[in-house]
Amino acid sequence: MLAIIGGTGLSSLDGFEPATEKVVATPFDDDEVRVQFFNYREQEFVFLPRHGAGHAVPPHKVNYRANIWALSEVGVKSIVAVNAVGGIVDSLGPGSFAVPDQLIDYSHSRKETFFESGLTQVTHIDFSHPYTNKLRACILRALTTVNENSPTKHEVLDGGVYACTQGPRLETAAEIRRLKRDGCDMVGMTGMPEAALAREMNIEYASLALSVNWAAGITDALISLDEIHQILANGMEFVAAVLKEVIQDTGR
Ligand code: HPA
Repeated sequence: MLAIIGGTGLSSLDGFEPATEKVVATPFDDDEVRVQFFNYREQEFVFLPRHGAGHAVPPHKVNYRANIWALSEVGVKSIVAVNAVGGIVDSLGPGSFAVPDQLIDYSHSRKETFFESGLTQVTHIDFSHPYTNKLRACILRALTTVNENSPTKHEVLDGGVYACTQGPRLETAAEIRRLKRDGCDMVGMTGMPEAALAREMNIEYASLALSVNWAAGITDALISLDEIHQILANGMEFVAAVLKEVIQDTGR
């Protein structure tokens, strides 16, 4: 079964058939995770708002382990994560999409593994390619289809390196210059440890990233939250259409 993890701007799934809900108890700080079940064209999938239903949990406080564990518990085998990002490369201006194929993790102090206690042996996952190619291809196909049928076109970057920063503050201009030197194309705060935890649980994982601002110092303007919210509001209908295509495609 497919899961969609909604990020900033996608705390609920409007326009889909009504959901049933399951509250999954987890061993991670005893947090409960509310997983919503949906049907789209007879295809069952689940939705989980990463920051909670009211979008009140900041990126560094998200209980990533509880979320991924709960999804695994209800039978999820693949995850499409929606991530808002700041664009670093020229092709990722506000309103454009990326389906990253690599990441660098600059976050810290997050609980980032299931493999730390009660082990019979030390466990290391292979994480050379953090995103599942099959799922990336599926998202890219969906983006092409929706772009063809939509009056508003969005640029799409196939690939790119996602930098995960700690937040909740945005970066300094010098930090973004460093990320650029490191080869990063976009920056967000929620890509990790989510992707690694999914790999630890053997769940396919890919990201649909929406650029909502130019990263700090890329232009002379300061980053405006109002503008970010505007881009999110404009982009979400398109995102919902892309997700519908992905759900149908993964069910085929
Ligand atoms: N930096 C980090 N995370 C973000 C940004 C950004 O500029 N925009 C959206 N998420």
